[in-house]
Amino acid sequence: MKAIILYDSRSEGGSTDRLVDAIGQKLAGKGMDVEKARCRAQADYSFISEFDLVIMGAPVYYLMVSSQLLGALIQSNLSSMLKNKNTALFLACGSPQPMAELLYMPQMKMNLQGSRILAEKVFAPAETSDMEVIGEYVDTIYAEWLKEEERRGKRK
Ligand SMILES: Cc1cc2nc3c(=O)[nH]c(=O)nc-3n(C[C@H](O)[C@H](O)[C@H](O)COP(=O)(O)O)c2cc1C
Repeated sequence: MKAIILYDSRSEGGSTDRLVDAIGQKLAGKGMDVEKARCRAQADYSFISEFDLVIMGAPVYYLMVSSQLLGALIQSNLSSMLKNKNTALFLACGSPQPMAELLYMPQMKMNLQGSRILAEKVFAPAETSDMEVIGEYVDTIYAEWLKEEERRGKRK
């Protein structure tokens, strides 16, 4: 299975970069072939067709999901490439989880109509380097992906 992590952050080597690497390692540990790519708002995302799973994540700055990822979802062909695709979402932010789920996660989800969101997670600052929490997120993605594959097998 091929997975790609699309992400954005203003920081080099910040919490998002660390999260992306940790998620990638955990997925690779499950036998997945994992790539990562930093998002650009104006780009061609046709290459997404070669991946079975697309994980998208970014930090929140000034109440908005980081601009290159959100911009890509709004302005480019990314949303249309994600139709009928297995996806998973994550955010890194300082707000309490209920607030983040209410205010920030929908900024991504409203541009993901038609994709299958297998898992979503808001990482609090302390969780961005907590391998146990990251492992639980990846376990959920993997378990939901297996269920989806099983459902797809039965539909054939
Ligand atoms: C300039 C700035 C603005 C931020 N604004 C918010 C915000 O509006 N809401 C929030 O929950 N967290 C906010 N945060 C916290 C970041 O989302 C959080 O620290 C995140 O882990 C940063 O990721 P990074 O290290 O990849 O940049 C902000 C952080 C910075 C530096």
